[in-house]
Amino acid sequence: MSKFIAKPAHSLSGSLKVPGDKSISHRSIMLGSLADGITKVTGFLEGEDALSTLKAFQAMGVKIEREGDNVTIHGVGINGLKKPSEPLDLGNSGTSIRLMSGILAAQDFDCELVGDESLSKRPMGRVISPLTEMGAVIDSNDGKPPLKIKGGQALKGITYDLPVASAQVKSCVLLAGLYAQGQTCVTEPAPTRDHTERMLKGLGYKVNVDDNKMCLTGGGKLTATEIQVPSDISSSAFFMVAAAIAPQADVTLTGVNVNPTRTGVINILQLMGANLTLSNEREIGGELLADIRIQSSELKGIQIPEDLVPLAIDEFPAVFIAASCAQGETVLTGAKELRVKESDRIQVMADGLNILGIKNEVLEDGIKIQGGVFQKPTDIIESHHDHRISMSFAVASLRCNHPIEINGVDNVMTSFPNFVELANSAGMDITEV
Ligand code: S3P
Repeated sequence: MSKFIAKPAHSLSGSLKVPGDKSISHRSIMLGSLADGITKVTGFLEGEDALSTLKAFQAMGVKIEREGDNVTIHGVGINGLKKPSEPLDLGNSGTSIRLMSGILAAQDFDCELVGDESLSKRPMGRVISPLTEMGAVIDSNDGKPPLKIKGGQALKGITYDLPVASAQVKSCVLLAGLYAQGQTCVTEPAPTRDHTERMLKGLGYKVNVDDNKMCLTGGGKLTATEIQVPSDISSSAFFMVAAAIAPQADVTLTGVNVNPTRTGVINILQLMGANLTLSNEREIGGELLADIRIQSSELKGIQIPEDLVPLAIDEFPAVFIAASCAQGETVLTGAKELRVKESDRIQVMADGLNILGIKNEVLEDGIKIQGGVFQKPTDIIESHHDHRISMSFAVASLRCNHPIEINGVDNVMTSFPNFVELANSAGMDITEV
């Protein structure tokens, strides 16, 4: 089990290119595999999660070649997947297992989806339930992985009202809908990332989006295309917070995906008073990109608007570090979903903040954080193998006077393989041991 030692570093600068978006990388493999023709992907995230999806589709007979972040997918068509010879191991990746369940529920072969210790504890009832309503047959370990999916079921279209704002569940149902008889619609209680809808349209599949309702009709086909994966705003968020809290900082993050369903972290940091500006906004392949400049900021505590929660759902560990460095109290509510991510991100962050002497109060659906000064750590911080917890506490070193040790950082590889290298190139001092 590896550990970060993050030594105090007080300045951060440079123009940084963060790796490709994880959500878009997963979807490029899934939809490229199901398309007719060859899909070329550039900027693919070479992180373990996206590679789990890639390997799973290779195991189902899809020829996929990769040279660094360039991927060529020889699509097999919507009905061209083959039965894998072994259970598909999706590692730590919730997106892989939930989205692929939708596709695999409609195949003519049986298959089993498994994951690591963290994934094996995560709730899958949220996808099993709508898929079962569509006619799928899925066996699970009391609503958790492994998932045993029975092949040969004819699915029928449904209208599904999402009980939680989840892009993974929405995408799962829409992907199953590609194979279902008739129309499949999903309504969402609040906007969630819409990369699936955008990419389906990019590959020529008709998706009707009317306010919070997305519908498609089964039986169509996907046509190969070129996909350029923009930089991941979730990975960029560590550098946004890092630059905002560092005593001296001027950082530009280039080519970041600023899809409006993902930009909650920008809104939250701006509400906190961050010195953050967007420039060079452009659209590439149906996704919005911008360069983001962040300079040292005097942050203030805020009540985080609940409507921003789904739009920043993966960025809260980093936002909690910003809140720790802000003047006054930051309050987050309406974020119960954080408890079922790669770790219980409310409790695990609270435990780490306690070790750094930051006063906080854990709420059932959020947290209150009193801005303060990071103290000499009283212990090693445990990331609980959660990549985003590891990177968030590493960023805290920009406002510390003592080294911070973070345990169990291996899973940084799932989403941001060159995090340490990039952070150190900008002025941080992180060693992995
Ligand atoms: C994702 C959706 C979100 C997010 C996850 C990636 C996606 O999960 O937390 O990291 O790619 O669709 P939920 O749908 O569970 O909110």
